[in-house]
Formats: sequence, structure tokens, C-alpha cells
Amino acid sequence: MTTLTILPAGVTTEVEAGTPLLQALINAGQQLITKCGGKASCGACHLFVTQGRKGVSKLTPAENAKLDTLVGIGNKSRLACQVTVLGTEPVTVELLGALSG
Ligand code: FES
Repeated sequence: MTTLTILPAGVTTEVEAGTPLLQALINAGQQLITKCGGKASCGACHLFVTQGRKGVSKLTPAENAKLDTLVGIGNKSRLACQVTVLGTEPVTVELLGALSG
């Protein structure tokens, strides 16, 4: 188990190691719009991992390719549908746009 903090809502939840980040966000009551069903093709689940980047799975080629097409990406950008929470350290994410509503 590790702690997942979700900004800007300020929600904190405990997450089992191996949980997909998208699922963890849904479990925490976040309203998510995922147009592609988690296939790294819509970009709707773009968020920032602001702390604990070693506590999540590494960037996949598909994720990297999609991020390259999005506006507003940075070195903390990830696609929630492609990230697994490893459980090795606490993680903080900042939801963006549609994900923060
Ligand atoms: S849900 Fe579409 S890219 Fe993540």
C-alpha cells in the first residue's frame, strides 16, 4: 500500500501496489472522461505526477508518442491510463483540464 494524493482536490487515498493509476483515481471518486477506454490514444487522462515519480511505472513508448502530440505537456506529464502505482513511495498527482472537474 502507498499513499496517493490527488490535487487540486486535496484527496488522499491508500492504493495497493500494482493498481492502475486511472483505476485508483476512479476509486477515489474522481470524475474521469476517458474517450479511448485507456488505450493511450485520446490524451484525456493527461495529468502531472508532481511527487513520487519513482513510485509509478515507467513511460511506455505508446504513452510517450501520445504525449508528444498534446499541448501543455511537461516533464511531469503522464497518461493515467498507462501508469501503474508501484507502491514503493507516496505519489502525488495533479489533475488537469477535464480530469480536475
Ligand atoms: S484514457 Fe485515453 S489516453 Fe488515457
